[in-house]
Amino acid sequence: MIPDKVPQEDVFHGSEDLKKTAHVCSFDKYKELYLKSVESPDEFWEDITKDFYWKTKHTGPFLDYNFDVTKGKIYIKCMEGASTNICYNLLDHNVHEKKLGEKVAFYWEGNEPGDELIVTYRELLQKVCQFANVLKSQGVKKGDRVSIYMPMVVELVVAMLACVRIGAVHSIVFAGFSAESLCERIMDSQCSLLITADGFYRGDKLINLKLLSDEALQKCRDKGFPVNKCIMLKHLSKGDDTSPGSQSPPAKRTCPGLQVNNKQQHQRFDDVPWNPEVDLCWLTLVGGASDKCEPEWCQSEDPLFILYTSGSTGKPKGVLHTVSGYMVYAAATFKLVFDYQPDDVYWCTADIGWITGHSYITYGPLANGATSVLFEGLPTYPDVGRMWAVVDKYRVTKFYTAPTAIRMLMKYGSEPVYKYKRDSLKILGTVGEPINPEAWQWYYTVVGERRCPIVDTFWQTETGGHVLTPLPAATPMKPGSATFPFFGVVPAILNESGEELEGPSEGYLVFKQPWPGVMRTVYGNHQRFETIYFQKFPGYYVTGDGCRRDEDGYYWITGRIDDMLNVSGHLLSTAEVESALVEHVSVAEAAVVGRPHPVKGESLYCFVTLTDGVTYNRALEAELKKQVREKIGAIATPDFIQNAPGLPKTRSGKIMRRVLRKIACDEHELGDISTLADSSVVEQLFQNRHCAAV
Ligand code: PRX
Repeated sequence: MIPDKVPQEDVFHGSEDLKKTAHVCSFDKYKELYLKSVESPDEFWEDITKDFYWKTKHTGPFLDYNFDVTKGKIYIKCMEGASTNICYNLLDHNVHEKKLGEKVAFYWEGNEPGDELIVTYRELLQKVCQFANVLKSQGVKKGDRVSIYMPMVVELVVAMLACVRIGAVHSIVFAGFSAESLCERIMDSQCSLLITADGFYRGDKLINLKLLSDEALQKCRDKGFPVNKCIMLKHLSKGDDTSPGSQSPPAKRTCPGLQVNNKQQHQRFDDVPWNPEVDLCWLTLVGGASDKCEPEWCQSEDPLFILYTSGSTGKPKGVLHTVSGYMVYAAATFKLVFDYQPDDVYWCTADIGWITGHSYITYGPLANGATSVLFEGLPTYPDVGRMWAVVDKYRVTKFYTAPTAIRMLMKYGSEPVYKYKRDSLKILGTVGEPINPEAWQWYYTVVGERRCPIVDTFWQTETGGHVLTPLPAATPMKPGSATFPFFGVVPAILNESGEELEGPSEGYLVFKQPWPGVMRTVYGNHQRFETIYFQKFPGYYVTGDGCRRDEDGYYWITGRIDDMLNVSGHLLSTAEVESALVEHVSVAEAAVVGRPHPVKGESLYCFVTLTDGVTYNRALEAELKKQVREKIGAIATPDFIQNAPGLPKTRSGKIMRRVLRKIACDEHELGDISTLADSSVVEQLFQNRHCAAV
């Protein structure tokens, strides 16, 4: 399945320099290792697991599974019988066995240039142990779920690893989500405690996180699920303030012995709501906690974390990952895909609230003892050169971002890039959506100075780590292709009848067998897991993405083929946005489709049918946008809303989204519409397009 030969012309190669030291230095080497990974997985992964500390070793096969619903329950077990603790591997093992205590784990770079903090592995270990003791003192035990709703600060990593240390299961909710979304996730995973911060700045916009947290907890209470503990980190507020500072020591966020500069400390942020019956101050609690904490040894298949991702029914799915397989996979993909070397300064611009941040800011880099930049800010604040200023400042060697960010920065030309030195860069990466060849070329030429290979990594919240990806010194790159499978991953392309297609072809992207990092279940709903991923084509994991394989065997992701949209690299379900719209009293029905967007990839185009007697106007449009923002979060804000007195439906009442997508793009070639119940609505919708301010 991996071609014997790959083209040498019209492709891009990693530099000779890179090949000299790379872990996988040629395509032949990749092929050899790939074959080993699928033919002798035990042997292949055994070599990798040697890098970790195991309290007890595994007994059975490396992977034990059923991937076929017709043969019974779907299950995936990795390294049964082994026990370990990921936090111990990421921190204690690096500090004590690998002697990396004084190595920088994170350069934290705040929203404001000049806000910075350096944290070494030893300091991180101390902070995590202290906070693990705090969690224990609040009654959190192994297996309990803890919600984390925080900005991109070091304490977010501390909170997640403290959970891991005591065997609690973290559920991080991206700090851009609304109170309603947070409430839904807290209730679904039945969290007993919430960890949050007072607030943060995104560019010059203040996000009052505590207010949103309070709202979410009130909603939980109203729905009969009281969460009585909320630990708040004072990120913006001054430590000697009264509320809530009266119960806490001065909040100077320092690491002993390190120079700390945090301008945000000087901004006043006094109006933090505080309920002494529920709220607890991070600093007060940590002040009294010991920095020694024995790790809880966990079984391989114990739950590690839950992370919610959009589901096509509109209800988010709690993707559950487990201990050993996820750890090994996140670590191995990080090491090989970014060709990690000990002197690297690595920077992934994602937010830890998404899977990219979980696997490639926290788990993968720390498992390898890497030094990373942890960035709180925005690519455009205070100006559009910020990314490159940070690359220059820390001499970043490996840089990982999203195509949407590249497209946005491309608009401002090369000048803001050229202002800064990028000679430290060795490897560039992208994730989250297909990268268009034009953006790829700009990234390669302007940012990487034609020196740095680009790893276009295809994966999902569900896959835990990269599944299709180039290896930087081994795989000749084609702009826009995620190229070939990572080790242990066996892709196939199926047609609508579920037949495997050979050679150049296009169809459903599926995987034929598990790899260590694949999700294990949808939290609290195993049947949903089986239905979504395994029912359509028994024997395969269905990604929900379309894919083309070209004549050279390269894989090209063509985009989602379910009711999911990818807006700026974030998956959104059309059903979720539709249900937020119809909750408005003036909306009787809604249908949401994607419309290609030059920066975001896709934008949300919403058709709304109003209730009788309501007229469409700009004020209503603004209200509807606000409604979606409040129900889901700013990432789901509709770009266009169009009044749709009627929607194109089949005689059985099914909305023909295919037709709506054409209308959204003003494309009049509609194909076969003979199944429409009333074709006159189509003409009316084309005429109404101007109301959507396109
Ligand atoms: O459609 C694919 C797209 O993002 C989806 C997964 O989204 P999520 O679970 O939010 O995780 C995003 C970060 C891993 C996929 O089903 N996607 C992700 N990476 C790529 C991609 N599409 C094309 N090329 C990629 N490199």
